[in-house]
Amino acid sequence: MRIAVASDHGGIALKGALVEWLSSQAASVTDFGPESTDSVDYPDYARPVAAAVAAGDADLGILVCGSGIGMSIAANKVAGVRAAVVQDEVHARLAREHNDANVLCLGGRFTATALAIDIVSAWLNAEFGGGRHARRVAKIEGVFSH
Ligand code: RB5
Repeated sequence: MRIAVASDHGGIALKGALVEWLSSQAASVTDFGPESTDSVDYPDYARPVAAAVAAGDADLGILVCGSGIGMSIAANKVAGVRAAVVQDEVHARLAREHNDANVLCLGGRFTATALAIDIVSAWLNAEFGGGRHARRVAKIEGVFSH
């Protein structure tokens, strides 16, 4: 599993913990930064992760900012990306089963590391349900992918 990750200054600590955990799970992780806690603009970091997922260079993406909200808004501007802000395991599972979310966004200022790992694990272990959900996702892509 190839996973692209990035954060801003508000998410860098949680991102670091997730990179460590993902690597321990044998995932191939590409970290698009940043590398310091200096203040940065989250769209600059959402873009390369979203682009990698949209291009097929990564299977999935994980973005962490202070709340997860800005990252999700920015990532969803890229055609083919379905980014979801998630704060618990149930929504992580649903984001995959119903929405085929290929980018997970987390709030580094609101989500503890242990919970974030459980959230990411739930998302990675869930499978897209297909069927009626596939029809709905296709409608999303049809409307927004041009
Ligand atoms: C940065 O202060 C903060 O606005 C950002 O991390 C994120 O929460 C935006 O949605």
